[in-house]
Amino acid sequence: MKKQEMQQQKIGFINYTVAHPHMRAALDTALAAVRAGGAGSSIVIVTGPTGVGKTTLARKLRQNLQADYQDIIDENPEQIPILYGNAVAAQGASFSWKDFYSRLLKRSGEPLVERKLDIDHQQELFSDIPLARYRGNETADVLRQSVEICMRERKVRCLIIDEAHHILMVNDPKKLEFQFEAIKSLAIQTGAVIVLVGTYRLLDIRDQSGQLVRRSEIVHLPRYDVNTPSDVAKFKTALLELLEKIPVAHKLNGEKDAKHFYVKTGGEIGILKDWLVRAVDRFYQAGAKKFDLDFVDQYALDNKALRRIILEALEGEEKLRDIDEKDLEALLMGDVPRATVAASKRGRSVGRVGERKPVRDPVGGAYA
Ligand SMILES: Nc1ncnc2c1ncn2[C@@H]1O[C@H](COP(=O)(O)OP(=O)(O)OP(=O)(O)O)[C@@H](O)[C@H]1O
Ligand SMILES: [Mg+2]
Repeated sequence: MKKQEMQQQKIGFINYTVAHPHMRAALDTALAAVRAGGAGSSIVIVTGPTGVGKTTLARKLRQNLQADYQDIIDENPEQIPILYGNAVAAQGASFSWKDFYSRLLKRSGEPLVERKLDIDHQQELFSDIPLARYRGNETADVLRQSVEICMRERKVRCLIIDEAHHILMVNDPKKLEFQFEAIKSLAIQTGAVIVLVGTYRLLDIRDQSGQLVRRSEIVHLPRYDVNTPSDVAKFKTALLELLEKIPVAHKLNGEKDAKHFYVKTGGEIGILKDWLVRAVDRFYQAGAKKFDLDFVDQYALDNKALRRIILEALEGEEKLRDIDEKDLEALLMGDVPRATVAASKRGRSVGRVGERKPVRDPVGGAYA
């Protein structure tokens, strides 16, 4: 096969997306939540384990919402009903709103971003205010106001922020509350629905800020769990579909080796896809002869890495599990000592008030 042809086939495989049931369900829920926006939840939290397909879902969400507003966009090109941004990781220190706002303004075509960042120019504009006021957080404030104005002017209905867990990365735990406030204010001041896409770390928002809980809806994109009988069949169907799309004549048997593929991906379609893409890439590069399980296995994640990912997923799923109504009742009836309530609110490790201690469910399911 010619090199160019191989390249095209590989790109075709990279771009191929399986519409598997968990992805479809999460997309439908997220779309419904955004479309109902304003009627209660103005913050939608899309969460799931690392590599499950959250960014893929966020892009699909953007495409679908953009289609909703296509007529408006065609008639008023200056409007940006759906704005998409990334919360870039902090470099050593805390997440920087200043950075985030300036990226967002640039993305929305705001022509004055550079000038807004230019402190000395600010000094010229507001010469009666001392320069120091515009340093540090003040710059972030100026930019925040610009973002809010820009989002209102450009009639942004929905702001999707991928990797939003980075917002919660702060070097001082006291700053967390400020981060929650900033998200809330963005939603309230702009009237847009804010979709936060990220790992389970995002659930801290729900656990720590009552005001945000009231305004938020959680959309879960989970891995396939072998302890849920229907998940076993769904994972296998998605596996078989992906194997069929591999642009190489291969000897992989998804029926026979479903358990192996499950274990080596933690039941995550995104991890499976990345693994197969790596294997196809190496196959072409090395000019290998046989594309079988032994060949593919060389490019799987190592077991220690998978262990880390699976442990994080289990922890996240535990965080998502609701508490018992009886525990809620105990809290309301005053059966929980005040000191414990206060300690729990401060995030001390007494276990959250009104929450069961984590218990492991029977494991193994269909593969036991
Ligand atoms: N349904 C799918 N079909 C095919 N490929 C998929 C699917 N979902 C995700 N992928 C692929 O799997 C990889 C991981 O997906 P993605 O980046 O969306 O995961 P993520 O949850 O955002 O990961 P992270 O936690 O690292 O941000 C990507 O290469 C993506 O193209
Ligand atoms: Mg992602």
